Amino acid sequence: MQRIRTQASRDLAIAIIVIGISSAFLISLNVNERFIALAAKHERWQLDEFPVVLLVIYIMLTWYSIRRWTEARQEITARLEAEHKITQLLAENQRLFMLAIEVQEDEKRKLARDLHDEMGQYLHAARTETVALRLTSNDALVKDRATSVEQCLSHIQLSTREMIGRLRPPALDALGLSAALAQLVHQQCSIKNLHANMDIASEVDQLNATVAMNVYRIVQECLTNIVRHANASQVRLTAKMQASNLNLEVTDNGDGYASNQTQGFGLLGIRERVEGLGGKLHINSQPMHGVSIHVTLPIAH
Ligand SMILES: Nc1ncnc2c1ncn2[C@@H]1O[C@H](COP(=O)(O)OP(=O)(O)O)[C@@H](O)[C@H]1O
Ligand SMILES: [Mg+2]
Repeated sequence: MQRIRTQASRDLAIAIIVIGISSAFLISLNVNERFIALAAKHERWQLDEFPVVLLVIYIMLTWYSIRRWTEARQEITARLEAEHKITQLLAENQRLFMLAIEVQEDEKRKLARDLHDEMGQYLHAARTETVALRLTSNDALVKDRATSVEQCLSHIQLSTREMIGRLRPPALDALGLSAALAQLVHQQCSIKNLHANMDIASEVDQLNATVAMNVYRIVQECLTNIVRHANASQVRLTAKMQASNLNLEVTDNGDGYASNQTQGFGLLGIRERVEGLGGKLHINSQPMHGVSIHVTLPIAH
């Protein structure tokens, strides 16, 4: 809008200067007197009506310009209002999304606690009973069956523990974000024997709980993708504070993917988390050149 105003003022100045110069020129050459004399000589061509026709053309063109100018102004105002509304809706959308994520994390925390308190307790009791049955029974068939049940229960116990870990990463509460991220990288890289390279600043431990949980989930999704899709041999994780931003980068040297590859819920989830926190996401990927995911999050002090 400011730019348009500056241009309009410049155009008006040009118009005034041109009018001034041409008036001085017309006056100095007595143009109108010469024209009247010429028109009188050629009365049959009706040249003397020419100035009035010009005046009518001038009035109509002015009317036309004013109409278009009013229209353009209305259009610009409507567009600015629409842009303002879109910005407001986007901000509202981000706020709602973050609220949904917080509710989701809260639910996961409750679910993890219930799994631990309820299931864990009964599984332990059932296993103790089965062991007792195996040790006290004289019947070979019962001993055999008890051993099978014990193995099944051990398996369920292990899966439950893993589920609890995924729902509420215990390392995040117990050790802080930097150690939890390092543990996550080690865990995931050990699945595919990947070489891990990490540069995690200890200041990330001071991030608030919401940001820390989102950073953890973002890195978790990046690493899951590397293990599932990348065919990589090396992974690099960088997490650094720079001025009032957190810079996070997860890179692999695997297959990469083409830019026309449709995104799944994993990458979409990362984008929504980053945008919800008011940050920026850049994904660099080319076939056979690995994937590099770079996140910048603003940190309120
Ligand atoms: N690190 C990676 N290396 C190679 N391909 C990847 C990587 N990360 C994501 N992709 C590709 O992008 C697609 C979308 O990923 P994502 O949104 O996480 O969905 P999903 O993992 O459920 O398939 C994947 O299916 C995969 O083809
Ligand atoms: Mg994924």
